[in-house]
Amino acid sequence: MAPDARRRGLGRALAEAATRPGRVTTAWSHGDHPAAAAIAAGLGFARVRELWVMRRPATDPLPPVSSDEGVTIRGYRPSDAEAVLAVNAAAFADHPEQGGMDAADLAARMSEPWFDPDGLLLAVDPDGALLGFHWTKQHPPTDGPPHGEVYVVAIAPQAQGRGLGRTLTLAGLHHLTARGAQEIVLYVESDNLPARAVYERLGFAHASSDTHVMYAR
Ligand SMILES: CC(C)(COP(=O)(O)OP(=O)(O)OC[C@H]1O[C@@H](n2cnc3c(N)ncnc32)[C@H](O)[C@@H]1OP(=O)(O)O)[C@@H](O)C(=O)NCCC(=O)NCCS
Repeated sequence: MAPDARRRGLGRALAEAATRPGRVTTAWSHGDHPAAAAIAAGLGFARVRELWVMRRPATDPLPPVSSDEGVTIRGYRPSDAEAVLAVNAAAFADHPEQGGMDAADLAARMSEPWFDPDGLLLAVDPDGALLGFHWTKQHPPTDGPPHGEVYVVAIAPQAQGRGLGRTLTLAGLHHLTARGAQEIVLYVESDNLPARAVYERLGFAHASSDTHVMYAR
């Protein structure tokens, strides 16, 4: 809403007009704005999902990467596509968007100008089987000051809980910092406690205003 058109009931009227009786409607409030919360409450919407932005200054020192014996961390090769899709589907089986990534989605993301195979870090076991990956993203200079993103971290379910999430996240932070990022950002569901534990221990912080809220009715 344009700033000088606010507080006249227009937001509520627009939200009401966009809502059809008998149909599930979802709506995002970017920044968890109190006006959105008031409109949502007035129209009977419930708060169903919170997406947190977490940030870490790249200038904060990083501990060195020390991986498990036998685990190799390396960049992506085209022959890894199938394994990346399988680990992604298993790790994000319950995730509303990321879990559905198929070969066409993967190819589309890899054709973006920011894609860098060395920034898609894989952890593989001695037999070459994929245990997990961390896909980093270097944002183009048109997006503001140089910043990088923890784009996707996925550990195969059978390899979770042994420190690989932390190791791969850390390896990606080193990669992004070496390429000049001044800040690293990421998006995480607020109820994803294992992921939050990894990120918080690596120095990421969340400000309450950096929250996107999904409402549904
Ligand atoms: C989130 C994920 C990447 C973490 O990777 P992981 O290899 O299982 O995690 P790690 O073994 O490195 O554990 C890291 C920390 O999380 C903690 N942790 C693990 N499960 C936890 C839980 N359910 N609640 C709280 N903390 C938990 C561990 O104790 C460990 O803490 P420590 O460093 O103090 O020992 C992994 O579980 C995963 O792929 N999940 C599905 C996909 C996903 O959610 N990705 C992140 C999207 S933003």
